[in-house]
Amino acid sequence: FMPDQTFAPVFKDHVELFDFAGAVVEPVIKEIDAQWLALEKDGHEHFMLKEIYEQRAVIHKSIRLYRSMGTALWQQLGIDPEEIKTLKKIIFVACGTSAHAGSIAEFFFEELCGMRAETKLASEFRYRPLFSDSDVLYVAISQSGETADTLEAIRFLKEHNQRVVVLTNVASSTMVRESDGFLLTHAGPEVAVASTKAFSTQVAALLWLAYRFAFERGLLSYADFEIAQDDILVAAEMLETALEDTKHTIIEELAPKYAQYEKAIFLGRHSGIPFAQEAALKLKEIAYVFAQAFPAGELKHGPLALIDQQTPVFLFSHPDPVMYQKLLASAQEIKARKGKILAFLFEGQDELSALVDDRLVFPLGSVHSSIIVMTGVMQLLMYTLARLRGCEIDKPRNLAKSVTVE
Ligand code: AGP
Repeated sequence: FMPDQTFAPVFKDHVELFDFAGAVVEPVIKEIDAQWLALEKDGHEHFMLKEIYEQRAVIHKSIRLYRSMGTALWQQLGIDPEEIKTLKKIIFVACGTSAHAGSIAEFFFEELCGMRAETKLASEFRYRPLFSDSDVLYVAISQSGETADTLEAIRFLKEHNQRVVVLTNVASSTMVRESDGFLLTHAGPEVAVASTKAFSTQVAALLWLAYRFAFERGLLSYADFEIAQDDILVAAEMLETALEDTKHTIIEELAPKYAQYEKAIFLGRHSGIPFAQEAALKLKEIAYVFAQAFPAGELKHGPLALIDQQTPVFLFSHPDPVMYQKLLASAQEIKARKGKILAFLFEGQDELSALVDDRLVFPLGSVHSSIIVMTGVMQLLMYTLARLRGCEIDKPRNLAKSVTVE
């Protein structure tokens, strides 16, 4: 690891390390898994596509490893399990897609653990007052473990004597070294700049953690905890099945129809709001389409004025019947203004299905894991739109995989 403020001439068989005054610094050498160095697309046109299709496997791997951890989980997180019982709040700190995973997980921790939960954007975190409460757990989320904004937020928390745990995909990352504890997503190397499998694995990991905390807090029996863990595995299976079931419709019908638009609106409610934000981010970064996500309930407070024939709406339905009715009402408002809607909806949501122009239908699973089920298809749709628009998918213009500058 290169410490800050050092430089290193790299030779064929060794490295020399110096500080800026020219003094020799002793390097800390750690061997990393060689799989990171030999990545292939395995017959896929892009890494992004390959990574979309790896999601079932990596979610399964992650959940199976968590299941086998037992009490080692608490040592790794650096938390006494007794503290979980009294914890009042969890605060996620992250950027981009990882922040969306945190915003989705807020619903898991609030509803399953009876804890307050919020997500803070790491880039803004240091510029607001920090309230140091003892019954709060900070969780940084970062695929790379190197994002400068998130790292600085971790350092800020440490300066203020706050405990921080990181959820990351890279065991050898700076964030793991600088945090009090960690949990790994076992998504494997993610090469495409647009995050796919890292995102769904973060969501699955946070859902698992919420169930684990709920069990520890006496809100879930062991038998129900086992069922809940199985449910995450089933959701990952459903993600893969949904990809197979919808790929022809996406490639042959939907993507050609929607690839022409230069702007799009994304709508959701509840955990579907950050999911809509994530979908909009995918479309922006890989297809260069101006995409804006709104909570569907905000539609009539302004964004409804944007509805026209040139601005399709991607609407994400919700398995909860109350949320579904609210989303149905939003779809009716859009159709009354002759807007065009492509809806992601669940089996049995017939009224919405009949109302919208196009639909992708998912099996009705549990409320919390349904986001995982929709993820692969959402990503495949955005990927296919970008491909039809001739964009350079794995390395979008102006973007880097790991954002190591603030
Ligand atoms: C998403 O597709 C982007 N790659 C980006 O938003 C990313 O999630 C963000 O830069 C944070 O990266 P991290 O998870 O590695 O910290």
